[in-house]
Amino acid sequence: MSRQKLKRFVDLKDRSNVLEDDSSLYYKLKGNWKKDFFKNEQPITVEVGCGRGEYSVGLARIYPERNFVGIDVKGDRLWVGSTEAIDEGLENVGFLRAQVQNIEKFFAPGEVDTFWITFPDPRPRDSDIKRRLTSPRFLEYYKSLLSNNGQVYFKTDNTFLFDYTLEVLNERKDVIDLAFTHDLYHSQYMDDHYGIKTKFEKMFYDKGETIKYLKFRFDHGK
Ligand SMILES: C[S@@+](CC[C@H](N)C(=O)[O-])C[C@H]1O[C@@H](n2cnc3c(N)ncnc32)[C@H](O)[C@@H]1O
Repeated sequence: MSRQKLKRFVDLKDRSNVLEDDSSLYYKLKGNWKKDFFKNEQPITVEVGCGRGEYSVGLARIYPERNFVGIDVKGDRLWVGSTEAIDEGLENVGFLRAQVQNIEKFFAPGEVDTFWITFPDPRPRDSDIKRRLTSPRFLEYYKSLLSNNGQVYFKTDNTFLFDYTLEVLNERKDVIDLAFTHDLYHSQYMDDHYGIKTKFEKMFYDKGETIKYLKFRFDHGK
């Protein structure tokens, strides 16, 4: 392990805006984020596979009246977002080091107002379908945790994953208000971009990839 990574892991132990499995709150958060972590009643946006947390931090800056939680397994990446949030005094953003497939251990039904899925790993092999963050299994997690009018946003450079996701969504009867574009930067949805480019977005955009984007809600009655 590199020295930098090691230092970051040590730093994280003292960070109140990063929750890892040795944090006292870690297994007590479910249903209690507003009361015990944010200490306010603001709606919560969760970014899954947040990496360095550009969206969580960027949106926390724009929307002080909302709360943001970035989830990723990689502590050294979370360190970057955590550091920015601390440097800027942003108290409405936190980070959870966890596997997204365990998300129901950390949030209660209806506790999440919005999900952002930002440039997840495409996992092109058939044997990895279940690990895609937009596969039916993960969509069920998001649905179970979202509040009634909750919204899901998804961005990727990857055409394969994007088309797969559209297929999965179109097969469901409970997906409503689905809107999408294969070229966000030249679309009517550019306002949803907020001028925030994640690390992976920048990398692929600079290589000439178009950014694919979609949003939808679940009909909780179905
Ligand atoms: C391609 S990177 C994108 C990172 C960031 N969203 C961006 O746009 O720059 C995918 C991220 O998802 C995380 N990830 C992948 N599968 C995950 C899972 N099941 N649970 C938690 N994090 C996951 C990886 O650790 C990685 O940081």
